[in-house]
Amino acid sequence: MAGCACTGEKVDSPQDLQLMDLLGHYRGYDGSLIPVLQGVQEIYGYLPAEVLEKVSQELKIPFSKVFGVVTFYAQFHLKPRGRNIIRVCLGTACHVLGNAKVFDRLKDILGVDNGGTTDDLRFTLESVACIGACGLAPCIMINDDTHGRLTVDGLEDILAQYA
Ligand code: FES
Repeated sequence: MAGCACTGEKVDSPQDLQLMDLLGHYRGYDGSLIPVLQGVQEIYGYLPAEVLEKVSQELKIPFSKVFGVVTFYAQFHLKPRGRNIIRVCLGTACHVLGNAKVFDRLKDILGVDNGGTTDDLRFTLESVACIGACGLAPCIMINDDTHGRLTVDGLEDILAQYA
């Protein structure tokens, strides 16, 4: 078990050590909250409540303000996210060409609703507006990959490409 050089507090995981480094780097700077929250999310994959409390204490920012910022920005997540993020486009072109059926089928296959994450943390499923690939409609993105001209029948083969 290691100790934080600045507070002497005991920490017990590589993530905790990274957190202490992050907080040490930004402590005392105005405008540090958002970069710290981005850093925390980078470290943990999401924003655990107990870590938000620590951020509030260390940066001397009321917890209500920290929580308000977290819930205001869509980039921040309060629950663990999947290793693979599926974004289903529900923009006009994709909607007209039936992506709602694709979305429903993905919900069935994965057993989650919009915004949900599978229990094994393999996938998170989200709906988004146009992803800029209307010529491929109906389409989804998985991580940085675009999959277009989808049919509900091809979805399981696509998911199998992602561990
Ligand atoms: S509407 Fe789906 S990519 Fe544009």
